[in-house]
Amino acid sequence: MKKIIITIDGWSSCGKSTLAKAMAKALNYVYVDSGAMYRAITLYFLRNHVDWTDKKEVNKAMKDISLEFVFNEKSQQSEIYLNGENVEYVIRDLVVAEKVSEVATIKEVREAAVAIQKEIGKGRGIVMDGRDIGTVVFPDAELKIFMTADNAVRVERRFKELYEKNPNVTIEEIKANLEMRDYIDSHREISPLKKADDALVLDNTNITEKEQFHKAMKWAKERKGVVV
Ligand code: DC
Repeated sequence: MKKIIITIDGWSSCGKSTLAKAMAKALNYVYVDSGAMYRAITLYFLRNHVDWTDKKEVNKAMKDISLEFVFNEKSQQSEIYLNGENVEYVIRDLVVAEKVSEVATIKEVREAAVAIQKEIGKGRGIVMDGRDIGTVVFPDAELKIFMTADNAVRVERRFKELYEKNPNVTIEEIKANLEMRDYIDSHREISPLKKADDALVLDNTNITEKEQFHKAMKWAKERKGVVV
């Protein structure tokens, strides 16, 4: 059976990982959260006081960073490890979210992350979400999805998600963070967020998680060789 690559790109907090995880599970593929890599690198920079505006410091730090995805039987998903430490949950913190888009503009950071992503995709049979996966990492992917949703809906969803972990978080903070990330992610010089010419658009403002899953799975089944 031929396995394919499915890429899911789009704006922050529009449900990319929810869809990617569900598709990977249904297809028995590996789900890869590329944003987790940028978040883990940001966490390292913050913890080690790396001045990321200084190329020399960045180059030195990148040599000291090792990233790995390890499948966790309990959570039934791959979790990211930074130099041997499971950082899957700590990287979701707003402190990291506030800096990650800036760190993700750095050439050396992107080169390191993209090299790992390409390596993981060699055997195909993966669903990877991010910002440049269909445009830069796997331009030859068999199915490319570009996700979008209304801003207000995205803010609300993100707020609910973060509020569960931290009741001190405010909706204004979330809104400002999403707007800032969208702006930086889509305006940066290297690999900005944009729809690949051959990507299919999935706007989930007014559809349920179930409906979006069925829509995307229909697209996957239409791809040659995909057996569900
Ligand atoms: O998907 P996420 O929100 O966890 O991503 C965190 C940040 O990482 C996002 O603001 C931009 C960056 N990112 C990127 O530049 N390229 C990717 N392929 C994935 C994420």
